[in-house]
Amino acid sequence: MTSAQHAAQTEDRAANTTVSLRNVRRTYYLGEPVYALDGVSLDLPEGSFTAVMGPSGSGKSTLMNMVGCLDTPDEGTVHVGGQDVTALSGNERATLRGNELGFIFQQFNLMPRLTAAENVTLPLVFNNAVGTGRRERAETLLERVGLGDRLDHAPTELSGGQRQRVAIARALVNEPSLVLADEPTGNLDTGTGAEIMDLFAELHEAGRMILMVTHERHIAEHAERIVHLVDGRIEEIEQVGDSAYAEGSQ
Ligand SMILES: Nc1ncnc2c1ncn2[C@@H]1O[C@H](COP(=O)(O)OP(=O)(O)OP(=O)(O)O)[C@@H](O)[C@H]1O
Ligand SMILES: [Mg+2]
Repeated sequence: MTSAQHAAQTEDRAANTTVSLRNVRRTYYLGEPVYALDGVSLDLPEGSFTAVMGPSGSGKSTLMNMVGCLDTPDEGTVHVGGQDVTALSGNERATLRGNELGFIFQQFNLMPRLTAAENVTLPLVFNNAVGTGRRERAETLLERVGLGDRLDHAPTELSGGQRQRVAIARALVNEPSLVLADEPTGNLDTGTGAEIMDLFAELHEAGRMILMVTHERHIAEHAERIVHLVDGRIEEIEQVGDSAYAEGSQ
């Protein structure tokens, strides 16, 4: 599907999608303007699993930051959960992030002085969730990612794959409707990366919506569709396998 066909088709779907970008442009001025995103329109339907691929500098992280409400466009609109992100204040965007979004990064971004369980509960602390039950919640999530016996380990006492599992548990602690992952397997060996993808598959089957950036084709193929970015534009949206979002099925 070309981006023009995609743009036409997405107009019809905007009403029942959870994330919707329309003609999003993000420009950086370094002497010459650099269009990190150059007119991107994309819908993420509820419960969908989407991968983003493209060369270095093609705008993948910029796209994640838009959907993640960490950045706002210079032109165009971004809707997350029916809310117009561009119309929100910084504080309102932070609240939206805390309530609706979970983030997973290539470098895991765990707090080195906190234990696995404390890292997982950190977003609850920021969200002023009541203190009681936090530990139990961390235990449940760490058990779910296979780390029930590592609750009180520090990040340095865990392998790369185990650290990423802690980061996944942390991303889930606020019951986000959307999980955003930028190169989640980028620092992991092939086998450990596959284990993390099994975990993503479980999340997706449980109804969680996922947007994931990756350089690796075999990792991207775990998603239902692959958005190919080139020079800040969507070059192609590729359906993977027998996706529920294949053309003609909606
Ligand atoms: N803070 C910034 N200031 C200036 N230019 C930026 C900034 N952030 C990104 N860019 C530019 O925007 C473009 C897209 O960057 P982005 O980080 O989204 O690429 P990417 O696809 O994630 O690349 P990679 O695969 O290397 O992570 C690049 O040309 C980059 O140099
Ligand atoms: Mg990037």
